[in-house]
Amino acid sequence: MSGAEQRVTLASGAAFDVVPGQSILDAALQAGIVLEHSCRSGRCGSCEGQVLAGGTAPLGGEPALDAARHSAGWVLTCMRTVDGQPVRLAIEPVPLHLPPAKLVPSKIASLERVAPDVLRVRLRLPPQQPLHWRAGQYVDVAGPSGIRRSYSIANRPRAEPLIELHVRAVPGGSFSAYWFGQARPGDLLRLHGPLGSAVLREPQDRPLVLLATGTGIAPVKAMLEEIAARDERERPPTIHVFWGNRRRSDFYWDPAMLPLVQQFTPVLSGVDHGWTGRRGWVQHAAVESGVPLADAAVHACGSARMVDDARRMLVAAGLDPRRFHADAFLPSSSNHGKPS
Ligand SMILES: Cc1cc2nc3c(=O)[nH]c(=O)nc-3n(C[C@H](O)[C@H](O)[C@H](O)COP(=O)(O)OP(=O)(O)OC[C@H]3O[C@@H](n4cnc5c(N)ncnc54)[C@H](O)[C@@H]3O)c2cc1C
Ligand code: FES
Repeated sequence: MSGAEQRVTLASGAAFDVVPGQSILDAALQAGIVLEHSCRSGRCGSCEGQVLAGGTAPLGGEPALDAARHSAGWVLTCMRTVDGQPVRLAIEPVPLHLPPAKLVPSKIASLERVAPDVLRVRLRLPPQQPLHWRAGQYVDVAGPSGIRRSYSIANRPRAEPLIELHVRAVPGGSFSAYWFGQARPGDLLRLHGPLGSAVLREPQDRPLVLLATGTGIAPVKAMLEEIAARDERERPPTIHVFWGNRRRSDFYWDPAMLPLVQQFTPVLSGVDHGWTGRRGWVQHAAVESGVPLADAAVHACGSARMVDDARRMLVAAGLDPRRFHADAFLPSSSNHGKPS
């Protein structure tokens, strides 16, 4: 350890060194220790933990941390670095191996409009610079004007070096303007990833509940593909998918195509007089479905409102909060300049 680095020790006794200015989260991941995380910009709260000893210094705002937790010494590890003293944190590392994040160039292989405001983008990676990822992870994409946005990977890794993204148009959005206006096959885009810890946990011996809104179906598709590629004995006993959209034309993919899925419930939130299926919100549909939540593992991807409500409602209905994993598609406007 050089003089400048400081040691951070976790509840389990696992320890790693942090260079001043480096986030505690990044240093842990670099040392092969996985801490729960999603947005890496202080907005989702999944990387929070309590400081038991030592000091930390902020790298930016921590909007996801409430005042009570802040006063009780909680921090967001993605937004904190060391402050000259060894640190002890009351956080358990996640028993997972995640491939290290790296920067790779990619080229747009195809762009396909799959719903009125959704594009399926396929990015080709150079065969000599393969990217390894786990289903459920995302990449940060740097566009031609230097804007960076996060997009979940919608396919499992295969021999062919292709990454599939599902991109929704956000009205007035900077990256949306590029995807839906200027992007062409052959364009070069820089990727940083894979990122995020909302991947399938082992062993897969519990009912699996997958909740998505909009393009939140992208990581769900990747997870289902990963499960389909496994031996039957290593698959969850049951899989239940709840996908919410405003319009019926937004259901651009059919999870029931995969014979793995016992129950697929499309849930419509907008007005459509001809719709005979479930209406309302996916989190309500999941709670009312009769899935044994006390025993289940849940992954939720999509709008921050759905993720927050789902966590609260499913935990109140008996789910162990440690088995709720999520990526909230938070607006990225505050991470324009985030280094990748
Ligand atoms: C971990 C993670 C994974 C993500 N995965 C995906 C994905 O797979 N597919 C996908 O389409 N998007 C995904 N997103 C969202 C994506 O990163 C961008 O935020 C989104 O595409 C908007 O970018 P933009 O540049 O077009 O809009 P911006 O220029 O960032 O925003 C324009 C305006 O719209 C608002 N806004 C931005 N996003 C939203 C939103 N979701 N809801 C309401 N208002 C919004 C902003 O606050 C701003 O006022 C993900 C986000 C995160 C954090
Ligand atoms: S707040 Fe740290 S990963 Fe989201």
